[in-house]
Amino acid sequence: MLYDSIIDAIGNTPLVHIDPAVHGLRHIDLYAKLELLNPFGSVKDRAAWNMAQPGLATAVERGSQVVELSSGNTAKALAVIAGMHGLSFKSVTNRMRVPEIKDLLLLLGAEIEELPGQTECLDPTNTEDPLTLFHRELSEPGRAYLHTDQYFNARNSEAHAAGTGPEIVKDLGGRAPDWFIACVGTAGSSTGVAGVLRGHDPNVKVVGLVAGKHDFIPGIRTIDEAYEVGLVDPATYDAPEPVTSDEAIDGMLTLARRCGILAGPTGGAAYHGTVRHLRAADTELTSRQARGGGPQIGGIHRARPYRELRQLYQAAASRPLPSAASQELGGRPDQR
Ligand SMILES: Cc1ncc(COP(=O)(O)O)c(C=O)c1O
Repeated sequence: MLYDSIIDAIGNTPLVHIDPAVHGLRHIDLYAKLELLNPFGSVKDRAAWNMAQPGLATAVERGSQVVELSSGNTAKALAVIAGMHGLSFKSVTNRMRVPEIKDLLLLLGAEIEELPGQTECLDPTNTEDPLTLFHRELSEPGRAYLHTDQYFNARNSEAHAAGTGPEIVKDLGGRAPDWFIACVGTAGSSTGVAGVLRGHDPNVKVVGLVAGKHDFIPGIRTIDEAYEVGLVDPATYDAPEPVTSDEAIDGMLTLARRCGILAGPTGGAAYHGTVRHLRAADTELTSRQARGGGPQIGGIHRARPYRELRQLYQAAASRPLPSAASQELGGRPDQR
């Protein structure tokens, strides 16, 4: 593979079959779309490039700063893309909870503006939130910024309608999976992929994974935040389902230790939520006839307060993993 630019390496990520001995589903083939193998480390690389690309030439001409409301993976990708074009990048966020992410963004040359608001994702209905006020300011015409606007920009989901979704169908030999299960942040990725899959087969079931009330999982909005805003259309999902941060860590460990997939907690949440959801369907299936949609796997985006996250990681390091995740997840009796 020869590329002119690292940007050309975005997309075409592998779809990897997960060993049934690990997940314990008897009649469902489970695949994981390894978005962590995008060059800047996550599913957000696709959206970041697609959103930034049309405005870059003008931004370079005017020397505009690239700006996004993000505390993680979108910021990471945009910081690199801006730097590659000689532009500065500013990440505006209500909270930058994980010092490592902040350090990485600073290392990549990002400017970080932290606001004293409360919400994890942008909540335009909260008109007092400083993030909402900042977003409104950015969206005013004539601003000297290149504002990529990931919560509202249709090019966010279009990146996945053009890339991620068709890649899944191609890799499954031209058919859509029976289920597509993904974590929901801005909803750009799940919306774009779901549209493509349902275009192939209107019966595809789409499950959107969110964090529970008062919980934090990197990149996932909480169930309280799953309102109709920006790119989030509740009609996209047959079911929204909460995942706990503990489950996300368990899933992350299973992916790392049993599958060799070095995903972050968001990928872990996707894995755990997927297996838990499919377990019920699996017990009803009498033959191996269905394919499970792959969770999207990526790195750290937004996170639980760092101290809590670190405690979770420390506990996880010494936590014995079930001999097969199937044990914990109620899988094959012969593997218990
Ligand atoms: C690793 C990871 N997975 C999934 C998501 C959710 O993606 P989306 O914003 O497209 O809903 C994010 C969001 O930042 C993320 O960083």
